[in-house]
Amino acid sequence: MCNYNIENRVMYQRIILLFWTAILYSTIVYAIRSVHRPKDLCMPRIEVDWAGEKTKKNILYASHLESKQILKKFDWDFLQSRLLPPSPLPHRNDPTQQTSGIELDTLLNKLLDEIKEGKKEYTDVTVLKRLDFNRKEGYGLIVFKCKHHPFVLKLFIERPESFVNPLSKGFQPYFFFFMGGGINRHLMGFTRIKNLEYIRDALKNDPRWAAIIDTPRKWFWLPKNPQWLSIRAYNLDGISEQTIEIPAVYAIVADWIHSTKELSLRSRTSRTLGIKLSRILGNRIDPHMGNFILEDLSHKEEAVTDQMEEDNLLINPKKERIVLIDTEHFPSLVGLASPLEFDGYLSWYLQLMGKFAQEKFFRTKSYRKHIQTHPIPEFLAL
Ligand SMILES: Nc1ncnc2c1ncn2[C@@H]1O[C@H](COP(=O)(O)OP(=O)(O)O)[C@@H](O)[C@H]1O
Ligand SMILES: [Mg+2]
Repeated sequence: MCNYNIENRVMYQRIILLFWTAILYSTIVYAIRSVHRPKDLCMPRIEVDWAGEKTKKNILYASHLESKQILKKFDWDFLQSRLLPPSPLPHRNDPTQQTSGIELDTLLNKLLDEIKEGKKEYTDVTVLKRLDFNRKEGYGLIVFKCKHHPFVLKLFIERPESFVNPLSKGFQPYFFFFMGGGINRHLMGFTRIKNLEYIRDALKNDPRWAAIIDTPRKWFWLPKNPQWLSIRAYNLDGISEQTIEIPAVYAIVADWIHSTKELSLRSRTSRTLGIKLSRILGNRIDPHMGNFILEDLSHKEEAVTDQMEEDNLLINPKKERIVLIDTEHFPSLVGLASPLEFDGYLSWYLQLMGKFAQEKFFRTKSYRKHIQTHPIPEFLAL
């Protein structure tokens, strides 16, 4: 099971060390850059305020900002059409049990109040992940599991000052900011349900895999009296000013998947599985191991074929099913302009690191100027 190639591991560790050294170095270089350096007036920038205000206080200048990333991810009509319904939602594992959308709505509004009060423990939920959340200030992305209902809640909170501070929400958002043309998790969250629907359609065309890969149901949720952020973008696509308004707080409610075991990069079976999946679904999904869960089917009476055994994936198809829990639009997350081709995770990580390094350290001034007026087209657009 732990058939891990030692040479690969050493190389992988060296690359990571080199990578972190480069990042540390770049941070120092930026820190000592003269404050008297003249500002480039054509530099892309965003100014963010609460809707209806124009304070000019929250400004972000960055040559990496791209209009398709900042202005095109939020689709109000789509969000409204996929809102959590108030009606009863049958549970995934036991459809005879239900939770009403109204109950979840009440729970989420109460949770939001508890976060605003700065509480560390919450009445109705436990925290699954808060790596991308600024606990002190109370913004970013935080993932919860309901204590008494089989649902996962991904809560997205931004404020004008946090939106223009991409380095204040952990390391991952820092990478995505540079790779993804100024993208952040808040904007990316809007892609999760559209991309989920693309994935479902792709699976429908491949009945063999559709029998063993599944996805959770997902809905958007907005708080009562939602506040809106107004984002004004300057110097993108050669346009002097463009504006968009997005909800400052929203959530994605998803079915909680009862998992049998974790997939791991150390296991060859898991790696094969991840790579196979990304072949089927293409670059639309992030094949990072944590994005798949093996669902325990032992309590369900479902007829599942034995196909996985043929593929030597060591999955017991009578008891398990692969569920893709994370459906963010991967090309947007890492700013892909063309297909990423790989036959293993080492190659995948190396290419992503290479892309980050390219975007962060090696973009020439003339290239930056060029893409300000000649935007890179969307790849696998939603
Ligand atoms: N639908 C789900 N069912 C069960 N566990 C989940 C579900 N969604 C997320 N999780 C768990 O929550 C944690 C954080 O979720 P993750 O998908 O990594 O967040 P992100 O959207 O930031 O990538 C992980 O441990 C993951 O396994
Ligand atoms: Mg994930």
